[in-house]
Amino acid sequence: MVNTSVNLCGITLQNPVIPASGTCGFGAELAEWYDLNLLGAISIKGTTLEPRFGNPTPRIAECPNGMLNSVGLQNPGVETVAAEEIPRLKKHYHQPIIANISGFSIDEYTACCERICNSVDLVELNISCPNVHNGGMAFGTSATEAARVVSAVRKVCSRPLVVKLTPNVTDITVIARACEEAGADGLTLINTLLGMRIDVMRRKPVLANKMGGFSGAAVFPIALRMIYQVHLACRIPIIGCGGVSSARDVIEMMMAGATAVQVGSENLRNPLACKEIIENLPLEMEKLHISDLKEFIGIIQ
Ligand SMILES: Cc1cc2nc3c(=O)[nH]c(=O)nc-3n(C[C@H](O)[C@H](O)[C@H](O)COP(=O)(O)O)c2cc1C
Repeated sequence: MVNTSVNLCGITLQNPVIPASGTCGFGAELAEWYDLNLLGAISIKGTTLEPRFGNPTPRIAECPNGMLNSVGLQNPGVETVAAEEIPRLKKHYHQPIIANISGFSIDEYTACCERICNSVDLVELNISCPNVHNGGMAFGTSATEAARVVSAVRKVCSRPLVVKLTPNVTDITVIARACEEAGADGLTLINTLLGMRIDVMRRKPVLANKMGGFSGAAVFPIALRMIYQVHLACRIPIIGCGGVSSARDVIEMMMAGATAVQVGSENLRNPLACKEIIENLPLEMEKLHISDLKEFIGIIQ
């Protein structure tokens, strides 16, 4: 018997595998395929204070070993998520729930967090959003702005606060340390990398929004490198994310410093991805002579 359980910010997860925000809706999509109670936790769709229709279509583009999306945080708004979506999920799901919240000003972030935090186990703050009061620059690309939003949300958040970082920065450790000092209890890394494709026949960008976030298997080595760097620079736990598609990827990310691991785009390619990864995890552990997964977190120095 192997032990796959981990402790994330004081919460015990039966295994480290978590569907990433935006790739499992509010759970219903994946519940059609398997019993969600086998998951370590679930990170639900990015939620904003007001409902959002998202960006114009096309907003998904396939790429070799990955995909681009410019969904633009489509969601029904925090009131509906807290009053309807989360209760609906809780009817058949009894593992930890992570709310992923976004905003375009600090006030929006704090109001959204206040409304949702008591309904969930953990709050994941997506700081990849543009700050409308700062020329549209993403909160997560400036250490000062990242720290401001984290410390404001920390004050109103009744649950562990995990900050999800954008990889579109020069040195992710600077942002990670600023978030840690501002009160973050953990970090998720990474969000998508800014990318673009052109339809050469139509002489137009493939995405209506021109640019979008690149994710999927191709980004795995970049995510792994950032997790490794941040693990050496910070003390708080890391949720690894980016290009994970197998149980071995999960173990590799944990060796780099991740306490838990999110699976994103792979759910869109194979809706059974998380279930298969969780089932394969003990087999991979046995092959690698690992009896307790948590002992291998950050073993690479
Ligand atoms: C279609 C789509 C929608 C996403 N929506 C969100 C979101 O609402 N909030 C968020 O923090 N990340 C969102 N992400 C980013 C993922 O959670 C994840 O960080 C990223 O895709 C990298 O992981 P992956 O390579 O396993 O997909 C989205 C990704 C995709 C592909």
